Amino acid sequence: MSLTLAIIKPDAVGSGKAGKVLAHLEGAGFTVRAARMLSLSKAQAGAFYAVHKGRPFYDELVEFMTSGPVFPMVLEADDAVPLLRETIGATDPAEAAEGTVRKLYAESKGRNAIHASDSDENARQEIAFFFSEHERLGTGRS
Ligand code: RTP
Ligand code: MG
Repeated sequence: MSLTLAIIKPDAVGSGKAGKVLAHLEGAGFTVRAARMLSLSKAQAGAFYAVHKGRPFYDELVEFMTSGPVFPMVLEADDAVPLLRETIGATDPAEAAEGTVRKLYAESKGRNAIHASDSDENARQEIAFFFSEHERLGTGRS
C-alpha cells in the first residue's frame, strides 16, 4: 500500500460536490487516511504550486485555489499515485476519459475539481504540507 494526496478544489467544494467526489474516490478503491477543510492563503497556495511559478497560468491558479475552501485528504491504495491520476483524468476535462472525476465534475482546465500528486516524492512532500505525522497515521488525539 502507498499514500497520495488529493485536494478537492474550491469549484467542487463550492458547488456542493465534495461528497460525490469523495464517494467516487472510495469507489475507486482508496481508503481515506486523513482529511481536513481549510482556506489557503495566497502564500500557501503559491508555495504549494511553486513548481509552476512563472508559467502563464500561475497567478490564475493561485487566485482560484484561494477563492474558497479546499478539502485536502491523504488516500491509501496499491500504487496510490498512478491510480489516483488515472481516477481523476486529464487536467482539462474536455480531454479527460469517460467516468473520471474531472470528466464528471470539473468545469474547465482552470476549475478542474481536484488535485492529485504526480510522484511518490511529491506525494510525501504534499502530505507533509497539510498534515502532521499523527494526523497522517490516523492515530492522533491532539
Ligand atoms: P494538479 O496539479 O492540480 O493536480 O493538476 P495537473 O497535475 O493535472 O496539472 P498541472 O500541470 O500540475 O497544472 C496545475 C494546475 O494548473 C492549471 N493549469 N492551467 N491554462 C493552462 O494551460 C493550465 N495548465 C495548467 C490547472 O488548473 C492545473 O490543474
Ligand atoms: Mg500537477
